[in-house]
Amino acid sequence: MKISIIGAGNVGGMAAERIAAEGLGQISLIDIAPKLAQAKACDMDDSRYILGRRSSVSGGEDIAGIQGSDIVVVTAGLARKPGMTREDLLQKNCSILEGIAAQIQRRAPDAVVIVVTNPLDAMTFFLARKLGFARPRVFGMGITLDASRFANLISKKLSADITAIRACVIGSHGESMVPLPRFTTVNGTSLDRLVGEVDIRELVSGTVNRGKEIVSLYGTGSAYYAPSAAICQLVRAVALDSKETLGVSAFVNGEYGLKDICVGLPCVIGRNGAEKVVELDLNGREKAQLTASADAIKELINLLKL
Ligand code: LAC
Repeated sequence: MKISIIGAGNVGGMAAERIAAEGLGQISLIDIAPKLAQAKACDMDDSRYILGRRSSVSGGEDIAGIQGSDIVVVTAGLARKPGMTREDLLQKNCSILEGIAAQIQRRAPDAVVIVVTNPLDAMTFFLARKLGFARPRVFGMGITLDASRFANLISKKLSADITAIRACVIGSHGESMVPLPRFTTVNGTSLDRLVGEVDIRELVSGTVNRGKEIVSLYGTGSAYYAPSAAICQLVRAVALDSKETLGVSAFVNGEYGLKDICVGLPCVIGRNGAEKVVELDLNGREKAQLTASADAIKELINLLKL
């Protein structure tokens, strides 16, 4: 399996390290910044002996390094700075992704493409449209991370074992994301039966604002440990054809009554990408929240030059 990661910043670099640690394939790390990807690849590979790792990481500036990839992860783009919303990044990151799309089309036409660049859902839609690949083959890592954040906050609030939690978040990887207490369980019991409204509101807003909280803690740059873990989880599911259900930004075609949009939903992930959108039995309130979140994504999509 050849796995390319475009963008060797904190997220791309840490994703390469995690994917290498799991031995999921040969990794090609690419960044236009002179020598950055090469430096990180050499440094990571020097740990192979100590860690007993057979797979290796190569790195360089030339995007030709994605040639023949089975999976391409796109982390390239500007990251959020304090006070900046994901949406502020839209125009700048579009122009970066436009060039990358042409290279993926030419050099990795059969790849599954995982988008990480923010604003996540709009960028996933932009790249999917530019690539013109079959829908399942392009999806975004956004709510994959938000589910992990939700689970972490629940674990702390309830003093619950993190492995006993199944967290579900849908909608945009943005201000309008929709953590779903009814579909989130701790030891099989749904969250709405375990805690009251006030606690739920706190857990939900803590999840929605977690990215921002971390941006302001770092001062410069945004989160990368948990984002890279979420990327690795998705790469693993594709590489191993696991068919597990994970939340990703999917290019919907009528599911949940939504069309012409990428939005976070649970999907079966396998060798062909986000192979199937799983339809949850949402109640009226949840449906309305998803629709509002989809509308917020639509507003951004309407700004894209496609
Ligand atoms: C976050 C950024 C990466 O949620 O979107 O941390």
